[in-house]
Amino acid sequence: MKEKTNIRHLFSSAAERNTFLKICAPMVRYSKYESVSLLEPFRAKRLVSMPRLILLFHCSRLEFRNLVRSYGTDLAFTSMIMADSFCQSEKARLNEFTTNEDDTPLIAQFAANNTIDFLSASEMVYPYVDGVDLNCGCPQRWAMAEGYGSALLKTPELIADMLGTVRRNMPSTFSVSVKVRLLSSSDQKHTIDMCRQLEATGITFLTVHGRTAPEMTKVPVHKDALQEIKQSIAIPMVANGDIFTLADAEQMYSQTKCDGVMAARGILSNPALFAGYRSTPVECVKRWMDICQQADTDITYQCMHHHFSFMTESLLAKRLRYELNSLPKEKHKVYEFIRTHLPLDGVVDEGNGGKQYPEKTSCTYSEQKYRERTATRSKNSRAADGYDPEASEGNFFQSKRVELDETAAAQNGEDSVDGVDFMDGGSLLFDE
Ligand SMILES: Cc1cc2nc3c(=O)[nH]c(=O)nc-3n(C[C@H](O)[C@H](O)[C@H](O)COP(=O)(O)O)c2cc1C
Repeated sequence: MKEKTNIRHLFSSAAERNTFLKICAPMVRYSKYESVSLLEPFRAKRLVSMPRLILLFHCSRLEFRNLVRSYGTDLAFTSMIMADSFCQSEKARLNEFTTNEDDTPLIAQFAANNTIDFLSASEMVYPYVDGVDLNCGCPQRWAMAEGYGSALLKTPELIADMLGTVRRNMPSTFSVSVKVRLLSSSDQKHTIDMCRQLEATGITFLTVHGRTAPEMTKVPVHKDALQEIKQSIAIPMVANGDIFTLADAEQMYSQTKCDGVMAARGILSNPALFAGYRSTPVECVKRWMDICQQADTDITYQCMHHHFSFMTESLLAKRLRYELNSLPKEKHKVYEFIRTHLPLDGVVDEGNGGKQYPEKTSCTYSEQKYRERTATRSKNSRAADGYDPEASEGNFFQSKRVELDETAAAQNGEDSVDGVDFMDGGSLLFDE
């Protein structure tokens, strides 16, 4: 088992130092891929007829967490992981969660719509993380339709049951948390009631994204609401939304008196944000290249490339970014391109130069408890229904297929912009 960090202590030690925790948000997005062996079972069963498929792209995966930790991030989240897929499929686990012994403090975020999935997934990931988090903030249509993400905000008693059950079943030193949004942009009474109910389940901390579910990222974050919530609860509160510089984070801390500040889009486009850089330093690009080269086949082309694309936004002219996004899908071509257009060779990386990252931890999981629990679940339960571990990646991928078909139908067969579809209904971050 990996050495554990006590997240409660992490918050109290920051508070004693009159500061806040700097947190890298959970980030997953969707992208289209030409052909992916992971989805071959669907093709074989003729469940997928599209030539290009939507797959999850984990922005906050191990290699990116390594990078942001080297630039002042105190605590990192995994991307959102579908709890049902995680419980049911070894392939999904291998694809969606990797870690190493340096990868701490770490919170695994799950999307779940029932207690069995959330509890079982939490137990399975327990040896490798310092806490689990329930996503109650995702506003996407597919998530809402399946009762995930912010759809859960309509049933606080279900959220409370999921969190309370996991809390009671895990050691008290293990963090259990939840990420929510505001229920209203004007009156915080209901949000405060909900946060108090969540607090009563015994959770370690709470993250609040300071917007309501329908609000797009162009709506400024409601900091006054975050401040009001913070005053109404006793557990640590992480404030999230519109953090693009360290100064933004400091301002959020001083305005809301929060215990932690979480950045998503800001840290994607500048992974060195929490170290005080106002835009990505070239040294950070070099570090990312080192990490990717060390990770070798553990990192996909897409992950390596997308992060280069995000973080060079401020470093490359638009024409060059377009060129970067049009390169043939070979890693060495991307490395070559970056070396040609950015002065990496002259960079002395004093902070992290030549750091060797530990090997990926070989994670082993037992599905036994999950199987026992689902055996007793009613026949109508979706997770127990017809799951064949050899033939599918779990319910989530099947639901994505339906969504993909619907989207394709709606678009009359025309692709959306690169098929890029952000979790947050926010703007596109790059124009591939
Ligand atoms: C690319 C991307 C992926 C995201 N994925 C997740 C996710 O997996 N889980 C989650 O709770 N929120 C997710 N979000 C929402 C962010 O965590 C965050 O709440 C939101 O972007 C507001 O923060 P920001 O203004 O710093 O971007 C995602 C946001 C982005 C931009």
